Amino acid sequence: MKIILAYSGGLDTSLAIRWLQEKGYEVVTFTAELGQKEDLEQIKEQVKRLDAKPYVLDLREEFIKDYVFPSIKANALYEGAYPLGTALSRPLIAKHLVKIAEKENATVVAHGCTGKGNDRVRFDVTIKALNENLKIVFPAVEQGLSREEGIKFAKEHGIEIEETLYSIDQNLWGRSIECGVLEDPEKEPPADAFKWTTQPENAPDKPKYLEIEFENGIPTQLNGVEMGGVDLIETLNKVAGANGIGRIDHMEDRIIGLKTREVYEAPAAVVLLKAHEDLEKYVCTINENLFRGFVEQKWAYLAYSGLWLDPLREDLESFIDKINEKVTGTVRMKLYKGLSMVVGRKSKNAIYDQNLATYGKESTFDEKTSEGFTELWGLQSRIANKIRNRKLEKIRNRNND
Ligand code: ARG
Repeated sequence: MKIILAYSGGLDTSLAIRWLQEKGYEVVTFTAELGQKEDLEQIKEQVKRLDAKPYVLDLREEFIKDYVFPSIKANALYEGAYPLGTALSRPLIAKHLVKIAEKENATVVAHGCTGKGNDRVRFDVTIKALNENLKIVFPAVEQGLSREEGIKFAKEHGIEIEETLYSIDQNLWGRSIECGVLEDPEKEPPADAFKWTTQPENAPDKPKYLEIEFENGIPTQLNGVEMGGVDLIETLNKVAGANGIGRIDHMEDRIIGLKTREVYEAPAAVVLLKAHEDLEKYVCTINENLFRGFVEQKWAYLAYSGLWLDPLREDLESFIDKINEKVTGTVRMKLYKGLSMVVGRKSKNAIYDQNLATYGKESTFDEKTSEGFTELWGLQSRIANKIRNRKLEKIRNRNND
């Protein structure tokens, strides 16, 4: 029977090819090019060497346009920290896995996820939402090997893998690093966990300035040069990474209830999200700014928790897209030894008037109008406090009797 396996080239999925073949399946693999900086030709060769048929699709443009850009517009950081690199890629991979299964007339698909993570949930929920009739097989769960055992199994079965004890997933939007020494939340991640970012203390002594132009919430130019999304993000990963920017280390609540220590490198994401949110604040009213956080958090949670295809995501996006219609302008960033700082912004849509805001003589703000405002703004607070004081006085008087 034919089976389509989502194949990353990593340890778990490589073992899966052999294991599925031993179970009698004819294995077809699918690898998505998402800018993970892996040698895809080598991945193809490995698959062929293992007597399976490889599909490799370049999905970088689709990934940026339909998954990463919406996440920028939503200022999406799960639990305030994780830019969702891995999470955003899963529904896209699942979508094409289902397409290939339909094309190949396969009724079974597989992925290399363990039962402990979010990825299993994301793949399963999306695959089933797109084609309920597909059966899903879980080689990693059924094999139940530890990482060390897996490496041993690979060697014995002629599977070439990079012998790292970290579990790594990477694409244009970031690099997720798990396992090994990182599992001890007390210990600082060792230098060898990072590949895209310079150790901040070794980053250049001179700051690097960048101007990022946004149009309707989407980054379109870097230092005045028009760029497509893939190019822009690739360039930013390099420039910001070289300045030590993008390392994230936080405790994360997985969907299935586990709390884990997660380490990421996401230089472009850290810079773009910071710049975008600053510009958005500049062009939105106080009411929009205070309200949108709730929508954004919900959007990030849906993306994180495998509910990409829940209609609520698109419902939220109609609000998010609307509010981003005015997020057009330029943000100036200063990158320096692991820090990315917003140091300037410009927009024709800014709800900012220097003549009103200035503390200088030229101010046009009529400060007398504040008097009536504070009078009414504090009306209920005054009444409530009067009542509370009256009550307190009564209690005090009773205690003194
Ligand atoms: N905790 C992250 C997430 O759930 C990263 C997952 C990384 N996956 C991996 N195979 N290393 O999105």
